[in-house]
Amino acid sequence: MRAGGLVILPTETVYGLAGDASDPAVVAAIFEAKGRPRFNPLISHVADLAAAEKIAIFDDRARKLAERFWPGPLTLVLPIAPDTPVCDLARAGLDTVAVRVPGHPMAHALLARFGGPVVAPSANRSGRPSPTNFADAVEETGVSAAAALDGGPCEVGLESTVVALLDEARLLRPGSVTRAEIEALIGPLAEAEADAKRSPGRLARHYSPKAPVRLNVETPEPGEAYLAFGPGDHRWNLSPSSDLREAAARLFAYLRDADRTDPIAIAVAPIPGHGLGEAINDRLKRAAGFVG
Ligand code: TXA
Ligand code: MG
Repeated sequence: MRAGGLVILPTETVYGLAGDASDPAVVAAIFEAKGRPRFNPLISHVADLAAAEKIAIFDDRARKLAERFWPGPLTLVLPIAPDTPVCDLARAGLDTVAVRVPGHPMAHALLARFGGPVVAPSANRSGRPSPTNFADAVEETGVSAAAALDGGPCEVGLESTVVALLDEARLLRPGSVTRAEIEALIGPLAEAEADAKRSPGRLARHYSPKAPVRLNVETPEPGEAYLAFGPGDHRWNLSPSSDLREAAARLFAYLRDADRTDPIAIAVAPIPGHGLGEAINDRLKRAAGFVG
Protein backbone atom coordinates (compact mmCIF):
# COMPACT_ATOMS: atom_id res chain seq x y z
CA MET A 1 0.00 0.00 0.00
CA ARG A 2 2.91 2.37 0.65
CA ALA A 3 4.03 1.74 -2.92
CA GLY A 4 0.62 2.83 -4.22
CA GLY A 5 -1.05 -0.57 -4.55
CA LEU A 6 -4.67 -1.37 -3.77
CA VAL A 7 -5.55 -3.96 -1.11
CA ILE A 8 -8.72 -5.97 -0.62
CA LEU A 9 -9.41 -5.44 3.05
CA PRO A 10 -11.87 -7.25 5.35
CA THR A 11 -13.86 -5.13 7.79
CA GLU A 12 -16.66 -6.09 10.18
CA THR A 13 -19.24 -4.59 7.77
CA VAL A 14 -18.21 -5.53 4.21
CA TYR A 15 -14.94 -6.00 2.28
CA GLY A 16 -13.30 -2.80 1.07
CA LEU A 17 -10.91 -1.92 -1.76
CA ALA A 18 -8.30 0.05 0.17
CA GLY A 19 -5.58 2.52 -0.75
CA ASP A 20 -3.65 5.58 0.44
CA ALA A 21 -6.17 8.42 0.92
CA SER A 22 -3.50 11.08 0.49
CA ASP A 23 -2.45 9.98 -3.01
CA PRO A 24 -4.71 11.21 -5.85
CA ALA A 25 -3.32 8.60 -8.29
CA VAL A 26 -4.24 5.80 -5.89
CA VAL A 27 -7.70 7.25 -5.31
CA ALA A 28 -8.21 7.62 -9.08
CA ALA A 29 -7.28 3.94 -9.49
CA ILE A 30 -9.95 2.99 -6.93
CA PHE A 31 -12.66 4.97 -8.75
CA GLU A 32 -11.53 3.29 -11.97
CA ALA A 33 -11.50 -0.24 -10.48
CA LYS A 34 -15.05 0.19 -9.17
CA GLY A 35 -16.41 2.08 -12.17
CA ARG A 36 -17.58 4.60 -9.58
CA PRO A 37 -18.67 8.14 -10.54
CA ARG A 38 -16.17 10.64 -9.19
CA PHE A 39 -18.80 12.85 -7.57
CA ASN A 40 -19.36 10.12 -4.95
CA PRO A 41 -16.77 10.60 -2.15
CA LEU A 42 -14.97 7.82 -0.24
CA ILE A 43 -14.70 7.05 3.48
CA SER A 44 -11.29 7.58 5.12
CA HIS A 45 -10.44 4.77 7.54
CA VAL A 46 -8.04 5.25 10.46
CA ALA A 47 -6.87 3.19 13.44
CA ASP A 48 -8.26 5.33 16.26
CA LEU A 49 -9.84 8.60 17.36
CA ALA A 50 -6.49 10.38 17.65
CA ALA A 51 -5.75 9.62 13.98
CA ALA A 52 -9.30 10.69 13.04
CA GLU A 53 -8.78 14.09 14.71
CA LYS A 54 -5.89 14.74 12.30
CA ILE A 55 -8.19 14.63 9.30
CA ALA A 56 -11.52 16.02 10.58
CA ILE A 57 -12.90 18.49 13.12
CA PHE A 58 -14.81 16.85 15.97
CA ASP A 59 -17.50 18.64 17.96
CA ASP A 60 -19.09 17.30 21.17
CA ARG A 61 -21.63 15.19 19.29
CA ALA A 62 -18.94 13.62 17.13
CA ARG A 63 -16.75 12.82 20.13
CA LYS A 64 -19.66 11.24 22.00
CA LEU A 65 -20.51 8.98 19.06
CA ALA A 66 -16.86 8.10 18.41
CA GLU A 67 -16.23 7.22 22.05
CA ARG A 68 -19.30 5.01 22.19
CA PHE A 69 -19.16 3.24 18.79
CA TRP A 70 -15.51 3.17 17.64
CA PRO A 71 -13.98 0.90 16.71
CA GLY A 72 -17.15 -0.20 14.92
CA PRO A 73 -19.63 0.16 12.06
CA LEU A 74 -20.27 3.93 12.26
CA THR A 75 -19.03 6.58 9.81
CA LEU A 76 -19.08 10.30 10.67
CA VAL A 77 -19.20 13.05 8.04
CA LEU A 78 -17.40 16.07 9.51
CA PRO A 79 -15.71 19.30 8.39
CA ILE A 80 -12.13 18.71 7.22
CA ALA A 81 -9.22 19.60 9.52
CA PRO A 82 -7.10 22.54 8.24
CA ASP A 83 -4.19 20.35 7.08
CA THR A 84 -6.12 17.21 6.29
CA PRO A 85 -3.98 14.71 4.36
CA VAL A 86 -7.09 13.28 2.63
CA CYS A 87 -6.81 14.36 -1.00
CA ASP A 88 -9.48 16.34 -2.84
CA LEU A 89 -10.49 13.51 -5.13
CA ALA A 90 -11.20 11.21 -2.16
CA ARG A 91 -13.64 13.84 -0.87
CA ALA A 92 -15.08 14.57 -4.34
CA GLY A 93 -13.97 18.15 -3.79
CA LEU A 94 -16.20 18.65 -0.69
CA ASP A 95 -15.02 20.54 2.40
CA THR A 96 -16.22 17.59 4.48
CA VAL A 97 -14.77 14.12 5.05
CA ALA A 98 -16.32 10.78 6.03
CA VAL A 99 -14.27 9.04 8.76
CA ARG A 100 -14.50 5.57 10.24
CA VAL A 101 -12.50 3.40 12.66
CA PRO A 102 -13.28 -0.22 11.72
CA GLY A 103 -13.43 -2.95 14.35
CA HIS A 104 -12.08 -5.91 12.36
CA PRO A 105 -8.67 -6.93 13.80
CA MET A 106 -7.06 -7.31 10.35
CA ALA A 107 -8.27 -3.87 9.24
CA HIS A 108 -7.07 -2.40 12.52
CA ALA A 109 -3.62 -4.00 12.18
CA LEU A 110 -3.19 -2.66 8.66
CA LEU A 111 -4.37 0.85 9.56
CA ALA A 112 -2.16 1.02 12.66
CA ARG A 113 0.93 -0.03 10.65
CA PHE A 114 0.14 2.22 7.68
CA GLY A 115 -0.41 5.26 9.87
CA GLY A 116 -2.19 7.61 7.46
CA PRO A 117 -5.83 7.62 6.35
CA VAL A 118 -6.94 4.83 4.00
CA VAL A 119 -9.88 5.11 1.63
CA ALA A 120 -11.84 1.87 1.37
CA PRO A 121 -15.10 1.86 -0.55
CA SER A 122 -16.94 -1.43 -0.58
CA ALA A 123 -15.00 -3.76 -2.90
CA ASN A 124 -17.90 -4.28 -5.35
CA ARG A 125 -18.09 -2.78 -8.82
CA SER A 126 -20.27 0.34 -8.57
CA GLY A 127 -24.01 -0.42 -8.32
CA ARG A 128 -23.57 -4.09 -7.30
CA PRO A 129 -24.14 -5.68 -3.88
CA SER A 130 -21.21 -5.22 -1.46
CA PRO A 131 -19.02 -8.32 -0.98
CA THR A 132 -19.32 -9.88 2.48
CA ASN A 133 -16.83 -12.72 2.05
CA PHE A 134 -13.34 -13.09 0.58
CA ALA A 135 -14.33 -14.95 -2.61
CA ASP A 136 -17.00 -12.39 -3.54
CA ALA A 137 -14.58 -9.50 -2.96
CA VAL A 138 -11.91 -11.07 -5.17
CA GLU A 139 -14.51 -11.81 -7.85
CA GLU A 140 -15.61 -8.14 -7.91
CA THR A 141 -12.38 -6.12 -7.90
CA GLY A 142 -9.56 -8.58 -7.17
CA VAL A 143 -8.11 -8.00 -10.62
CA SER A 144 -7.25 -4.41 -9.61
CA ALA A 145 -5.66 -5.27 -6.26
CA ALA A 146 -1.98 -5.86 -5.50
CA ALA A 147 -2.91 -7.95 -2.47
CA ALA A 148 -6.03 -9.40 -0.88
CA LEU A 149 -6.49 -10.20 2.81
CA ASP A 150 -8.80 -13.06 3.76
CA GLY A 151 -10.57 -12.13 7.00
CA GLY A 152 -13.40 -14.63 6.66
CA PRO A 153 -17.08 -13.73 6.37
CA CYS A 154 -18.06 -10.25 7.56
CA GLU A 155 -19.86 -10.26 10.88
CA VAL A 156 -22.30 -7.39 10.18
CA GLY A 157 -22.83 -7.83 6.42
CA LEU A 158 -24.20 -4.31 5.74
CA GLU A 159 -22.14 -1.15 5.19
CA SER A 160 -21.55 1.19 8.14
CA THR A 161 -24.17 3.64 9.37
CA VAL A 162 -23.32 7.12 8.00
CA VAL A 163 -24.17 10.18 10.11
CA ALA A 164 -23.42 13.75 8.99
CA LEU A 165 -22.66 16.24 11.78
CA LEU A 166 -22.43 19.47 9.83
CA ASP A 167 -25.44 21.49 10.97
CA GLU A 168 -28.24 19.27 12.19
CA ALA A 169 -27.26 15.65 12.75
CA ARG A 170 -28.48 13.65 9.74
CA LEU A 171 -28.71 9.95 9.00
CA LEU A 172 -27.26 9.56 5.47
CA ARG A 173 -27.18 5.76 5.45
CA PRO A 174 -28.88 3.45 8.00
CA GLY A 175 -26.77 0.56 9.29
CA SER A 176 -26.24 -1.77 12.22
CA VAL A 177 -25.63 1.12 14.61
CA THR A 178 -29.31 2.03 14.67
CA ARG A 179 -31.15 5.36 14.60
CA ALA A 180 -32.39 4.70 18.16
CA GLU A 181 -28.86 4.08 19.49
CA ILE A 182 -27.60 7.32 17.94
CA GLU A 183 -30.59 9.39 19.06
CA ALA A 184 -30.17 8.10 22.61
CA LEU A 185 -26.74 9.80 22.67
CA ILE A 186 -27.15 13.00 20.65
CA GLY A 187 -30.91 13.60 20.25
CA PRO A 188 -33.17 13.47 17.18
CA LEU A 189 -31.70 12.85 13.72
CA ALA A 190 -32.93 14.83 10.73
CA GLU A 191 -33.61 13.03 7.44
CA ALA A 192 -30.92 12.99 4.74
CA GLU A 193 -31.30 15.96 2.42
CA ALA A 194 -32.23 15.50 -1.19
CA ASP A 195 -29.32 17.90 -1.84
CA ALA A 196 -26.82 15.96 -3.96
CA LYS A 197 -23.88 17.91 -2.54
CA ARG A 198 -24.62 16.80 1.02
CA SER A 199 -25.66 13.20 0.33
CA PRO A 200 -23.87 12.33 -2.89
CA GLY A 201 -24.11 8.56 -2.44
CA ARG A 202 -27.88 8.52 -2.07
CA LEU A 203 -28.72 9.18 -5.70
CA ALA A 204 -27.57 6.22 -7.75
CA ARG A 205 -29.21 2.82 -7.93
CA HIS A 206 -27.30 0.52 -5.62
CA TYR A 207 -26.74 -2.99 -4.39
CA SER A 208 -28.36 -4.52 -7.45
CA PRO A 209 -28.03 -8.09 -8.69
CA LYS A 210 -28.65 -8.82 -12.41
CA ALA A 211 -32.14 -10.23 -11.84
CA PRO A 212 -34.97 -7.83 -10.95
CA VAL A 213 -35.82 -7.79 -7.24
CA ARG A 214 -39.40 -8.00 -5.89
CA LEU A 215 -40.11 -7.05 -2.27
CA ASN A 216 -42.61 -8.05 0.43
CA VAL A 217 -43.41 -11.34 -1.28
CA GLU A 218 -45.21 -13.98 0.80
CA THR A 219 -45.52 -16.52 -2.04
CA PRO A 220 -42.97 -16.48 -4.87
CA GLU A 221 -43.96 -17.11 -8.52
CA PRO A 222 -42.58 -20.12 -10.42
CA GLY A 223 -39.08 -19.35 -11.72
CA GLU A 224 -38.33 -16.82 -8.99
CA ALA A 225 -35.55 -17.31 -6.45
CA TYR A 226 -36.98 -16.72 -2.96
CA LEU A 227 -35.18 -15.10 -0.03
CA ALA A 228 -37.30 -16.20 2.93
CA PHE A 229 -37.38 -14.78 6.46
CA GLY A 230 -38.80 -16.80 9.35
CA PRO A 231 -39.62 -20.49 9.89
CA GLY A 232 -39.75 -22.74 6.81
CA ASP A 233 -37.57 -24.85 4.59
CA HIS A 234 -36.04 -22.68 1.83
CA ARG A 235 -32.73 -22.73 -0.03
CA TRP A 236 -32.10 -19.08 0.92
CA ASN A 237 -33.59 -18.40 4.34
CA LEU A 238 -32.21 -15.10 5.67
CA SER A 239 -33.12 -16.20 9.18
CA PRO A 240 -35.34 -19.15 10.13
CA SER A 241 -35.53 -17.70 13.67
CA SER A 242 -36.47 -14.21 12.37
CA ASP A 243 -33.23 -12.69 13.72
CA LEU A 244 -32.43 -9.38 12.00
CA ARG A 245 -28.68 -9.64 12.73
CA GLU A 246 -28.51 -13.01 11.02
CA ALA A 247 -30.55 -11.68 8.08
CA ALA A 248 -28.26 -8.65 7.66
CA ALA A 249 -25.15 -10.83 7.72
CA ARG A 250 -26.58 -13.11 5.00
CA LEU A 251 -28.37 -10.59 2.79
CA PHE A 252 -25.74 -9.65 0.18
CA ALA A 253 -24.24 -13.14 -0.10
CA TYR A 254 -27.71 -14.63 -0.67
CA LEU A 255 -28.62 -11.96 -3.25
CA ARG A 256 -25.44 -12.86 -5.15
CA ASP A 257 -25.97 -16.58 -4.74
CA ALA A 258 -29.59 -16.44 -5.89
CA ASP A 259 -28.54 -14.27 -8.85
CA ARG A 260 -26.05 -16.93 -9.99
CA THR A 261 -28.96 -19.32 -10.68
CA ASP A 262 -30.34 -16.88 -13.33
CA PRO A 263 -33.87 -16.63 -11.90
CA ILE A 264 -36.59 -14.60 -13.66
CA ALA A 265 -36.61 -12.47 -10.49
CA ILE A 266 -35.45 -12.54 -6.89
CA ALA A 267 -38.45 -12.35 -4.54
CA VAL A 268 -37.81 -11.30 -0.95
CA ALA A 269 -40.04 -11.96 2.06
CA PRO A 270 -41.28 -8.99 4.15
CA ILE A 271 -38.66 -7.91 6.72
CA PRO A 272 -39.72 -5.92 9.81
CA GLY A 273 -38.64 -2.25 9.71
CA HIS A 274 -37.54 -1.72 13.30
CA GLY A 275 -33.93 -1.57 14.58
CA LEU A 276 -31.54 -3.15 12.10
CA GLY A 277 -34.56 -3.75 9.82
CA GLU A 278 -34.37 -0.09 8.73
CA ALA A 279 -30.94 -0.72 7.15
CA ILE A 280 -31.97 -4.07 5.61
CA ASN A 281 -35.07 -2.53 4.02
CA ASP A 282 -33.03 0.47 2.79
CA ARG A 283 -30.64 -1.86 0.90
CA LEU A 284 -33.53 -3.97 -0.42
CA LYS A 285 -35.39 -0.93 -1.78
CA ARG A 286 -32.25 0.18 -3.57
CA ALA A 287 -31.62 -3.31 -4.93
CA ALA A 288 -35.18 -3.24 -6.27
CA GLY A 289 -34.57 0.14 -7.89
CA PHE A 290 -36.72 2.31 -5.59
CA VAL A 291 -34.35 5.13 -4.79
CA GLY A 292 -35.23 7.24 -1.74
O1 TXA B 1 -18.92 -0.20 5.93
C1 TXA B 1 -18.42 0.62 5.18
O2 TXA B 1 -18.57 1.84 5.34
C2 TXA B 1 -17.58 0.10 4.00
C3 TXA B 1 -16.33 -0.55 4.59
C4 TXA B 1 -15.41 -1.11 3.54
O3 TXA B 1 -15.66 0.34 5.44
N1 TXA B 1 -17.27 1.14 3.08
C5 TXA B 1 -18.23 1.72 2.32
O4 TXA B 1 -17.76 2.72 1.48
O5 TXA B 1 -19.40 1.40 2.35
P1 TXA B 1 -18.58 3.24 0.22
O6 TXA B 1 -17.63 4.13 -0.51
O7 TXA B 1 -19.14 2.10 -0.52
O8 TXA B 1 -19.72 4.14 0.84
C6 TXA B 1 -19.40 5.41 1.37
C7 TXA B 1 -20.66 6.22 1.57
C8 TXA B 1 -21.24 6.67 0.24
O9 TXA B 1 -22.66 6.60 0.33
C9 TXA B 1 -20.75 8.12 0.13
O10 TXA B 1 -21.60 8.92 -0.66
C10 TXA B 1 -20.77 8.54 1.58
O11 TXA B 1 -20.33 7.42 2.29
N2 TXA B 1 -19.83 9.66 1.82
C11 TXA B 1 -18.47 9.63 1.79
N3 TXA B 1 -17.96 10.86 2.00
C12 TXA B 1 -19.00 11.70 2.18
C13 TXA B 1 -19.13 13.11 2.44
N4 TXA B 1 -18.06 13.90 2.56
N5 TXA B 1 -20.38 13.62 2.57
C14 TXA B 1 -21.48 12.82 2.44
N6 TXA B 1 -21.42 11.48 2.20
C15 TXA B 1 -20.21 10.94 2.07
MG1 MG C 1 -20.44 0.92 -1.59
